[in-house]
Amino acid sequence: MSKSAHDYNLTNPEIMENPYEFYAAIHRDNARLVEVPGVGYWVGRMDDIKELAKNTQVYSNSYFDEGGPVPTGVSGEPLEDDVKEIFNKGPEVVNALWTADPPIHTTHRKLVNKAFTASWVKSMEPVIEEIADELISNFINNGKADFMQQYAVYLPMIVIAEALGMDRKDAELFKVWSDDILTGNLDVLDHEGRLRVAQSFIDANNHFKGILEERRINPKSDLISALANASVNGRSLMNKEALPIIDTLMLAGNETTTNLIGNALRILVEDEIIREALEADKSMITPFLDEVMRFDGPVQCLYRIVTKDTEFAGQKILKGTKIMLGWGSAGHDPDHFDNPQDFVLGRSNAYKHIGFGFGAHLCVGLGLARTEARIAVNVFLNRLKNVRFSDDIDLTHVPTFATRGYKTLNFDFNSR
Ligand code: HEM
Repeated sequence: MSKSAHDYNLTNPEIMENPYEFYAAIHRDNARLVEVPGVGYWVGRMDDIKELAKNTQVYSNSYFDEGGPVPTGVSGEPLEDDVKEIFNKGPEVVNALWTADPPIHTTHRKLVNKAFTASWVKSMEPVIEEIADELISNFINNGKADFMQQYAVYLPMIVIAEALGMDRKDAELFKVWSDDILTGNLDVLDHEGRLRVAQSFIDANNHFKGILEERRINPKSDLISALANASVNGRSLMNKEALPIIDTLMLAGNETTTNLIGNALRILVEDEIIREALEADKSMITPFLDEVMRFDGPVQCLYRIVTKDTEFAGQKILKGTKIMLGWGSAGHDPDHFDNPQDFVLGRSNAYKHIGFGFGAHLCVGLGLARTEARIAVNVFLNRLKNVRFSDDIDLTHVPTFATRGYKTLNFDFNSR
């Protein structure tokens, strides 16, 4: 007899490495609510996820209390005094945008939408192309590269760092802050991890406070100037709101897109038929990326916190419980996608995945992410041929269940 969905423990490294058997079990057993020990409950069916994502009053994004964001991991352990001390030294922050609920979320979202326009994304296309080209030029004569660390990591990092007013030379520092704050939002941390994340959080906020204040006086054409100066009905963002929004843009704009590029390149390199199809018809890159998002998306789940005792799928859920909305398992829901375990280039409804979320918090950066990934794949195909796994290829994933991406992707290639 096959395992039931309830027999899987998502915090087990083997299941994190390949959660797709767990997702298949969820759908096979119609397991609407599955406990993830020490964290909360996983909701994995597409219809259920959409229903809960719409109910922002009960399934809230305000993970933090009035003190605002304190990214210290998802285990709910009390904070040590030395960690609190670090947070207290940083600029004031409140729950904003991603960690706020309507109606305050609605106001923040309107302000951010004013900065994050389709025309700004369009204006970034030549910059993204130039960065992708430059990154490939750095290693094209070697015949071999780690496409995670030398390509997929750098492209979104440089784009969002510059959009937020940082110099390209500081992009590495930016990446450290971003990785630390992301892990503080998504993973289970020990004391040492909490200390590190707290320090990165206040360092980043101190840095961006300076840029925000400077851009209010001397605006440029970057995203941070647009955010600093956006206003709706005479209301603009205060520093304590803008800072956590910038933090979210930094971390949401980085590793996610990196992993979309990495997950896409693995499939491309492994499957010659798909690669040849894209080489022959570049307009297939966009539907290809939709299928990557459905099949093996970079964000497998995000959290909601239950605001009052409630009931779901016939089960009582107590106030304060964490619910994980499993965007990744929704992509494998057979009620929505035929033979979901198969990667199908040109699947007619692949774009209906919810890998960018659903409802009020639908990803602000999805246009930018799609553009970056499309250009990354396009430049890769244009400049390289005969790309294949290197002998030392290691397809191990970073061990977390919330995001999904490779540590390294070593490929050999010839230049065109
Ligand atoms: C492939 C890349 C990306 C994926 C898979 C992704 C995924 C997601 C998901 C699932 C959410 C929903 C959050 C929730 O419901 O709690 C979200 C929200 C968000 N994303 Fe993305 N994202 C990507 C790229 C980006 C980029 C490039 C940016 C910006 C530079 C960005 C900025 C945001 C922000 C600010 C939110 C919060 C929106 C709100 O609360 O209203 N994301 N993203």
